[in-house]
Amino acid sequence: MQQRTPGISPTYYKTIGFGLDTEQGQAYAAAKKMIDKYCGKVKNALDYGCGPGRSSRFLKASADSVLGVDVHPEAIVEAKKLPQENISYQLIQNGKLKFPVRFDLTFSGLVLLEVSNKKEISQILENLHKATTPDGTIIILTCTKAGYINDGDKWKCLLTEEEKESLKDGDSVPTGMTDSDEEFIDYYWSNSFYKNAFRENDLQLIETLYASPLEKNKKSRYVIYVCKKSKLET
Ligand SMILES: C[S@@+](CC[C@H](N)C(=O)[O-])C[C@H]1O[C@@H](n2cnc3c(N)ncnc32)[C@H](O)[C@@H]1O
Repeated sequence: MQQRTPGISPTYYKTIGFGLDTEQGQAYAAAKKMIDKYCGKVKNALDYGCGPGRSSRFLKASADSVLGVDVHPEAIVEAKKLPQENISYQLIQNGKLKFPVRFDLTFSGLVLLEVSNKKEISQILENLHKATTPDGTIIILTCTKAGYINDGDKWKCLLTEEEKESLKDGDSVPTGMTDSDEEFIDYYWSNSFYKNAFRENDLQLIETLYASPLEKNKKSRYVIYVCKKSKLET
């Protein structure tokens, strides 16, 4: 068994697509619906936690230019290996980011489930708030409880049935891959945790959309939160 570290490795992640025959593909299709509804085509978009660039390339369809940022140096190296016009990448150092401009759309896809503590989640939400134009839109795609505790796409949940039953905010969720022996750790955050965190960070939740599960009558594994800045800045 490999050592479990937080989050999936960028080298593995870059092999994952998001065809509509996958749960993540359905999740990104739902995110696109929300982008079309609230943003249409924007001048610029920020991809917070861009990994090896999959989500930045996804955003490019809705923005003239995209900046992808990530805390993982290897993710940025991998993202830059597949250059695309008007997509640039930047490494986040010490949790803070200084942006030369604000963004009409700030997006964070499948990132908060890799964050182990509330303080860091608040830091990310604060960064998203600061990076967004006053009328801009913040869209967050993350896992539902069903997404953590069920096997699906290429992931298998390594919690016992008892641990699944008693999951609470901040608990680690060991996860394995079905096609390799890699194992990693995600962190469970509930819907009510996110709603509070948005409020505490001056983000107004305006719509919640659950991605369509691949199998009918199953619970959705992914959720999309659409937020606006709730306080006007002076
Ligand atoms: C599961 S990957 C998702 C990548 C990409 N958004 C996508 O959907 O293809 C999660 C990414 O979030 C990044 N990440 C984790 N914690 C972060 C933080 N505090 N700030 C920014 N990025 C973070 C990881 O380095 C990783 O690249």
